[in-house]
Amino acid sequence: MRELMQWVGIPEAEQAVVLASPPDEQQLAAAVAELRRDLGTLDSRAGWPPGSGTLPLYAYLTVLPGVLAWHAARGVPREVSQATMRQLGSRVRDGEIVRPYWFARHFRGSLYRLGRLQFDRTTRHGEPILDIHIPGDGPLNSEACDNSLTAARPFFAKHFPAEEYKRAVCTSWLLDPQLADYLPEDSNILRFQHRFTPETVVSQADDDVITFVFDLPPGADLPRRTRLQRAIADHLAQGKHWHHVTGWLPL
Ligand SMILES: CC(C)(COP(=O)(O)OP(=O)(O)OC[C@H]1O[C@@H](n2cnc3c(N)ncnc32)[C@H](O)[C@@H]1OP(=O)(O)O)[C@@H](O)C(=O)NCCC(=O)NCCS
Repeated sequence: MRELMQWVGIPEAEQAVVLASPPDEQQLAAAVAELRRDLGTLDSRAGWPPGSGTLPLYAYLTVLPGVLAWHAARGVPREVSQATMRQLGSRVRDGEIVRPYWFARHFRGSLYRLGRLQFDRTTRHGEPILDIHIPGDGPLNSEACDNSLTAARPFFAKHFPAEEYKRAVCTSWLLDPQLADYLPEDSNILRFQHRFTPETVVSQADDDVITFVFDLPPGADLPRRTRLQRAIADHLAQGKHWHHVTGWLPL
């Protein structure tokens, strides 16, 4: 367990908390069986009700060697597997995963981190597409994004040759065109946004933006230290909303 926690980058102090509170063995066996059933599918049935404690983390770590073997069988380089799985290490607080459902994609073998961006294999109306996600662990600089986007098509062609990915989609608050009212044109966020052809406004994103940018619960007092923080707070204070927007790009 310790070795796996180390490998995904769970901090030492967190590891001790995790080891001190193992989940119920029967629940763990059931959760592991669900995750094993989901491996290789594009959909996850395993769910984590609030208050699942350390169960999701134990379950994910238990299946991790099997998922890595599944990656290896497809020739996925070990560095890509580790870069992908290290997001788990960054999301452990007080021994539990913050938003554990997010990792379903990592552990069913659909999501891979290639440099700055993550790509999740999925389908839309029967077309194989890559769903882009942006981990919040550093600036979103353009060159890093170029490199990730350039790597995506050859990576999936090599390791998942049965599926041909010609387009990528992204659904994010980062694609909300209202950000242009606040951020400079040369900001990383707007430069990223301009790569996509926007299609639809999907849903209101106020609570998600507060979680992603401030790591605070909805309704909390928002600090205004950066341009983005001021933008988000001012916009909401005016009674306006942020939205998740879907955009497309060719690969
Ligand atoms: C996406 C992300 C990496 C962009 O960061 P970036 O490269 O610094 O973005 P920009 O260069 O466009 O930043 C423009 C301004 O916003 C600020 N900013 C950007 N992201 C910020 C964040 N998460 N928290 C606080 N301020 C932020 C920058 O500091 C800058 O303001 P400044 O000029 O006053 O310093 C960052 O917002 C992030 O980590 N977000 C969380 C992950 C996320 O939301 N993913 C998408 C999920 S749908």
